[in-house]
Amino acid sequence: MQLSIVTLFPEMFAAISDWGISGRAVKQGIVTLEYFNPRDYTMDKHRTVDDKPFGGGPGMLMKTEPLVAAINAARGVIAGSIEPAKVIYLSPQGRPARNQDIVELAMLEKLILVCGRYQGIDNRVVESEIDEELSIGDFVISGGELAAMALIDAMIRFQPGALGADDSAQQDSFANGLLHCPEYTRPQKVNGQGVPEVLLSGDHGAIRSWRLKQSLGATWLKRPDLIEAAELDQEQQELLEQFINEYQSQ
Ligand SMILES: C[S@@+](CC[C@H](N)C(=O)[O-])C[C@H]1O[C@@H](n2cnc3c(N)ncnc32)[C@H](O)[C@@H]1O
Repeated sequence: MQLSIVTLFPEMFAAISDWGISGRAVKQGIVTLEYFNPRDYTMDKHRTVDDKPFGGGPGMLMKTEPLVAAINAARGVIAGSIEPAKVIYLSPQGRPARNQDIVELAMLEKLILVCGRYQGIDNRVVESEIDEELSIGDFVISGGELAAMALIDAMIRFQPGALGADDSAQQDSFANGLLHCPEYTRPQKVNGQGVPEVLLSGDHGAIRSWRLKQSLGATWLKRPDLIEAAELDQEQQELLEQFINEYQSQ
């Protein structure tokens, strides 16, 4: 997957290109990250990348010409593919990104991510250059870089070979519409609390069933909106009913 990132701060992306699972995927060439800095497309001697908003008001906007030039350079570098590259603007005004968005984006060969700074970007650039605005939540951060990194890291988890053989994004929360079940590691006792007996039983069928029940229960408790949206099969419905009965009789 080729990711072209339009950003005033390419150095920030070392957080994902140099570390952990995402860093390994970059080193193995599973994803390629390229940066297009609007500052490199300025024409004035001060290399200005911000400008005042029409109508006044606090703060600045990203200067339009260098931003558009950087987006076009990103398009140019990945020109020649059958489909033009999709351009996403990370924005608090976008649709909050969900797991299914990540799954779909992760299947694209190429993607351009535009990171805003200051008070954001000129609305005409949004209308003419951006295919979709995506948000990482209903709060405002200072720039699109952290949001882009969150998306990139999540997309990398769905690239074949990016996770170890015994790890799979398909088992993570949201992959099947539910939250992941609770997990435990050594020691067997922490602050006097043990682990559920079934996990020590070696009975793989019982463990699978327990995990599914806990996954349904955790989702019911923490994210009732997901349970309402889920289409549960008969086994899942029965396990959820058991969980609710046990929970309510505690
Ligand atoms: C300070 S914010 C601008 C906020 C803008 N004035 C508003 O109120 O909608 C600067 C940049 O951070 C990024 N950003 C801020 N919050 C975000 C969020 N929740 N999701 C994605 N990107 C965000 C966007 O790229 C935005 O252009």
